[in-house]
This record gives sequence, C-alpha cells and structure tokens, in this order.
Amino acid sequence: MPAHRGLFISLEGIDGSGKSTQSHRLRDWFVSHGRDAIVTREPGGAPGAEDIRRLLVEGDPERWSPETEILLFTAARRDHLERTIRPALEAGRVVITDRFADSTRVYQGATRGDLRGLVDDIHDLVIAVEPDLTLILDMDPDIALTRGLARASGEDRFEDFGLPFQQKLRVGFLALAETAPQRCVVIDASRSPDIIADDIAAIVETRL
Ligand code: TMP
Repeated sequence: MPAHRGLFISLEGIDGSGKSTQSHRLRDWFVSHGRDAIVTREPGGAPGAEDIRRLLVEGDPERWSPETEILLFTAARRDHLERTIRPALEAGRVVITDRFADSTRVYQGATRGDLRGLVDDIHDLVIAVEPDLTLILDMDPDIALTRGLARASGEDRFEDFGLPFQQKLRVGFLALAETAPQRCVVIDASRSPDIIADDIAAIVETRL
C-alpha cells in the first residue's frame, strides 16, 4: 500500500446486526473530527457492482451455487475496488465499507460450502487487499434475523436460508476474528446503537 493513503475500515457480521447504522455513525464521527470519510457497501458500492448485487441478493436461495456466488461477489468486489475504494484511499479519504472479503470467507467459504481454499485463492489473485481495521458486529442470530426480515427489503435471499444458517455464520465470523486479531475486533452488537457507536469510536481512536 502507498504511504499517503487513507484509512480502510470494514464492518462485518450476520444479517441484521446493525452494520449499516454503525457505518454511518462512524462516518459522522470521522467527519466531526475533520476527516473526509465515505460509506460504501458490498455487494455494490459502484454502479456495475450494484447491478451484480441485484443478481445476488434477490430471488430463490438456490439460484446460484456457492462456487458461482464466489465469482459474482468477487467480480462485484473488483469493480468496487477499482472505481470506489482505491480512488478514495489514494485521495487520502477514510473508506468505511459495510462488508468486504470477510463476508465471502464466512458466507461462501465456511457456511454455504466448505470452500475457504477457493475463496482465498481467488481473493489473492484479483483483490489482494485487506482493511486496516475490521469491526465484527456480533449478536444473537435469532434477534438479528427477525430484525432483518422485518425490513422486507426484497433482498432476503441469504436471510431465507434460515436461522441455522445465521447461527453457522456467527460461529464463522467469530472464528475468523481469532485468526486475524491484528485487524479484527469483535463488538457486542446486542447493546443500544449509541453505546455501540461510542465503543467503535473508542476502538478506532486507540487502534488507528
Ligand atoms: P447486505 O444485506 O449486508 O447488504 O448483504 C447482502 C447479502 O449478501 C448478505 O446476506 C450477505 C451476503 N454476502 C455474501 O454472501 N458474500 C459476500 O461476499 C458479501 C459481500 C455478502
């Protein structure tokens, strides 16, 4: 990574864990501290990647195999990286993304299939970037799933795999955090949004 770059932060976690709310709260915190910060998301974050998003999050759960999903998520990520993330980091901005490669590691690599090797190989070949800091929002999947489905966003393809799937995801995210302690911090996301936001701001201040 070049020396004069911005900061790259990802928020990860199961569906309905509050990543989107906290991404925006964190952006506001950076802006209030005089930093130029943007919020973006995956799949999506650039026009072409948003087109790919619709293929992934809508429709029948069995619409794609896990292998095809890895390719589609990675195609979307590459577009996001080229058109949004890299230019912003090179301009010295803070980039806060609601999901990044850890979602593929956990959803496709450890939960939809046992495909972590394939996920890692493709990541190394075409993405090869990690966030400076990853905040993993952890909470009870039962509550998170109810919250996620209540939104009725029409983007429920992964929520429609059901509760056992979300429980497996939670285990996957916690295991992943243990393998990358230098960049991952697990946050108790069962608390109020204000308390979580304060916690995240304190972590960012000490870590970065
Ligand atoms: P979102 O609802 O958090 O915007 O994400 C869309 C869905 O896509 C969510 O259920 C998680 C899933 N997903 C993966 O399965 N693999 C990935 O690599 C990413 C980025 C998201």
